[in-house]
Amino acid sequence: MPVFYQQDINETTRLGIWKIEEDEAFFKVLVPLHREVTHPHKRLQHLAGRFLLRYLFADFPLHQVQIADTRKPFLPGEAYHFSISHCGDYAAAIVSRDHRVGIDIEIPADKVGRIRHKFISAEEEEVIRPVTSQELTQIWSAKEAVFKWHGDGEVDFRKHIQLKSYDAGKQLFHCFFAKRSTLINVQLRPFEGLCLSYVYTSAFW
Ligand SMILES: CC(C)(COP(=O)(O)OP(=O)(O)OC[C@H]1O[C@@H](n2cnc3c(N)ncnc32)[C@H](O)[C@@H]1OP(=O)(O)O)[C@@H](O)C(=O)NCCC(=O)NCCS
Repeated sequence: MPVFYQQDINETTRLGIWKIEEDEAFFKVLVPLHREVTHPHKRLQHLAGRFLLRYLFADFPLHQVQIADTRKPFLPGEAYHFSISHCGDYAAAIVSRDHRVGIDIEIPADKVGRIRHKFISAEEEEVIRPVTSQELTQIWSAKEAVFKWHGDGEVDFRKHIQLKSYDAGKQLFHCFFAKRSTLINVQLRPFEGLCLSYVYTSAFW
């Protein structure tokens, strides 16, 4: 079954993860390629991500997608807000009619521990106390989701994305996004061998 996970977050916002088991031809029936993707597996991931947008909302106008200078894909007029991520054989997307969104999936790996000083502040080390690769990867993934939700680039992961605490069930991070002086929640879903993080807010600017 290609749909690995699906969630209707609220009446206007949906999220999905696709386990890629198909070849390019399957996705290309629905998905126009907007840019050259040379590497075959990256091209497959790219196509699967776009396919998910249409899977989540059947009227998603894929042919209208444009790419900003920051490389963020968007729809002129913003009939939908959306965000895409891919990793290994998985693609994930979140789509909303009216919420600003960001998503990231990552496969936990030991190497993230070697660069923890680049994206985790001393304060976060103190309050969150990440130990395992899963926990470290979840933090990285959460910050990537915030980066995509923001969408304008130029984010310092240590300085601007400040994770304050987990909630009791470790299902979300309370986060202060210093670039906008705003508090947001980053939702977390750890699967076997996969970390999912996403953000949705009704705030626009
Ligand atoms: C752009 C970035 C977020 C992509 O993340 P990634 O883990 O490499 O790749 P993912 O598969 O999760 O996401 C790729 C998707 O993100 C989306 N994307 C790309 N740039 C984006 C941006 N500026 N804003 C929002 N979304 C963006 C695209 O949809 C892309 O997929 P597509 O090209 O197939 O449509 C990442 O490369 C990046 O630049 N991160 C910031 C790094 C950083 O500043 N680190 C500092 C701390 S060490």
